Amino acid sequence: MKREKEKARIAVFVSGGGTNLQALLDAQMRGELRSGEICLVLSSNAEAYALERAKRAGIPTCVISRRDAASQASFEAAISEKLEEYRIDLIVLAGFMSILSGEFTRRWPRRIINVHPSLIPSFCGKGYYGLRVHEAALAYGVKVTGATVHFVNEIPDGGEILLQKAVSVREGDTPPVLQRRVMEEAEWILLPRAAEKVSCEIVSKKERQA
Ligand code: GAR
Repeated sequence: MKREKEKARIAVFVSGGGTNLQALLDAQMRGELRSGEICLVLSSNAEAYALERAKRAGIPTCVISRRDAASQASFEAAISEKLEEYRIDLIVLAGFMSILSGEFTRRWPRRIINVHPSLIPSFCGKGYYGLRVHEAALAYGVKVTGATVHFVNEIPDGGEILLQKAVSVREGDTPPVLQRRVMEEAEWILLPRAAEKVSCEIVSKKERQA
């Protein structure tokens, strides 16, 4: 009997609406995310709608909030415990709004990816998240923006770039309108593609080591 190919075990970290999580779940359903399997959704916020999306898809969830933890170290220790419990290989940050320290990210080299709603190195780094990114892009007057998926290291939005896609800014755009276009035309396409790419690399590495 043919043994089923092993998959990279993915944890998706969320904090809000979870449309990027949905894009990953849909890609998995369509067989486009085939080297990885979403095994856990971890939210920093108990109210995140992303948790509903995960439950609907039958994916285990947990809530670990920085505010409830005594320190950054204990917050990250609680996260690490969950990752170990679910034998996670790859972390996908999909609108995760809590900071992960260098101590944490160094333990996951090329094993954490993040989607950012601009063309890095524009409008990124400390203070640039969610709608603020689009407010800044419109205030500057750029005619092209987009999204980036990158590896996560100790520098905010500073890790190696995996994929990028440009999106046009249109006359009369407001931050929410631009945010939606960047999601539809870039983020929801790039993130599943990058998750598949890195999962595939993880599986190949595991097979070489077996
Ligand atoms: C997305 O636009 C994502 O790129 C952004 O937050 C939004 C989350 O939406 N992330 C950042 O700004 C990280 N710096 P979602 O919960 O619907 O996926």
